[in-house]
Amino acid sequence: MIKKFLMTPGPTQIPPQVSLAMARPIIHHRTAEYSELFDRVNDNLKYVYQTGNDIISFASSGTGAMESAVVNLCSPGDEVLVAACGKFGERWHDLAQAYGLIAEFHEYEYGEAVSPDDIARALADNPKIKAVFVTHSETSTGVVNDMKAIGAAVADSEAVLVSDSISGMGSAEIRTDGWMIDVVVAGSQKALMIPPGLAFVSVSGKAWALAEESKLPRFYFDWLKARKALGQAQPTTPFTPPVSLVVGLDAALSMIREEGLDNLFERHRVLGRATRAAIQSMGLELFSPDDDSSSSVTAVKVPEGIEDGQLRRLTRDKYGVQLAGGQGPVKGKIFRIGHCGYYNYSDIIVAVTALELALNELGHPVQLGSGVSAAEQVFGKEAV
Ligand SMILES: Cc1ncc(COP(=O)(O)O)c(C=O)c1O
Repeated sequence: MIKKFLMTPGPTQIPPQVSLAMARPIIHHRTAEYSELFDRVNDNLKYVYQTGNDIISFASSGTGAMESAVVNLCSPGDEVLVAACGKFGERWHDLAQAYGLIAEFHEYEYGEAVSPDDIARALADNPKIKAVFVTHSETSTGVVNDMKAIGAAVADSEAVLVSDSISGMGSAEIRTDGWMIDVVVAGSQKALMIPPGLAFVSVSGKAWALAEESKLPRFYFDWLKARKALGQAQPTTPFTPPVSLVVGLDAALSMIREEGLDNLFERHRVLGRATRAAIQSMGLELFSPDDDSSSSVTAVKVPEGIEDGQLRRLTRDKYGVQLAGGQGPVKGKIFRIGHCGYYNYSDIIVAVTALELALNELGHPVQLGSGVSAAEQVFGKEAV
């Protein structure tokens, strides 16, 4: 019998409470019942975002909400800055190019972090830059950028700061207001613990001012339409929302509220710590940084002599553990263990066990139990 353990950084495992909530008979979205639910969800989202700003939701994957940021903030020919250190940072550049923006592209090696000083310098050199696009948790490498420092670097300029926190929201802390981040994008299928299909953006006053003037074409992703629907006596969305996902999100967010933000972030840090300890104890090399910033995903170098696809097929097909591969230039060179969302010690122990068994079967020298033991040492001190 194969028991499945989804250990990818999105989609992630779904709590049974969420699945049960989503199985309830559907309700209509133009009703007081839906508006009450939607209102509560928005309040709880603001709690996780740590913001008083409006939060807009879209029935789309995370990329849709990223695209909404580009089209609502910019006008044709605008100058923007994209700072990318991995596959998802590059997506900001692709979007800017798709809409004919003039993008100053700061590209960092995969595995590096974006430099807040570079951003400050670029903004000082070019006051025409309207928006700065960065990735908070770069899921392709496990690097988490210093959004506090980047926020400080951008706040003194005319530009707005846009953060892709699709894999960071709810697992690597981001203080939207405290760190002065104008627009924060999140997605449903990561630490928010529901299936793919919902995406969110928070919008600051500075960003609203741009949205009111910007000229890029948009229809479905128009923030102004969304704000109008949100501001009605019965808050709603301009178009049919994915009602059952919103019901699931309500259940997931109430779990997060119950856990509390401090515990939530500490649990993710401990999961990262235990995973890194296990990986190193097995004699493997980390690709993601060996520090507490990488609390959403741990990236690991594929050991010499092992074929990545074969390794991950074995962990999945024989031991039920689905890991993620590398992307872009690190495809085949790294694999990734996701631990953002509904994860605790049990998932990490299972994932590490599967890795040890699979590597052993492929003839890689690994001391069975070495990774599990190292993870247990961490969990013994800090159970989560
Ligand atoms: C940091 C980051 N940005 C963007 C995306 C793209 O999101 P989606 O696939 O939901 O469009 C992902 C998904 O893995 C991500 O992790």
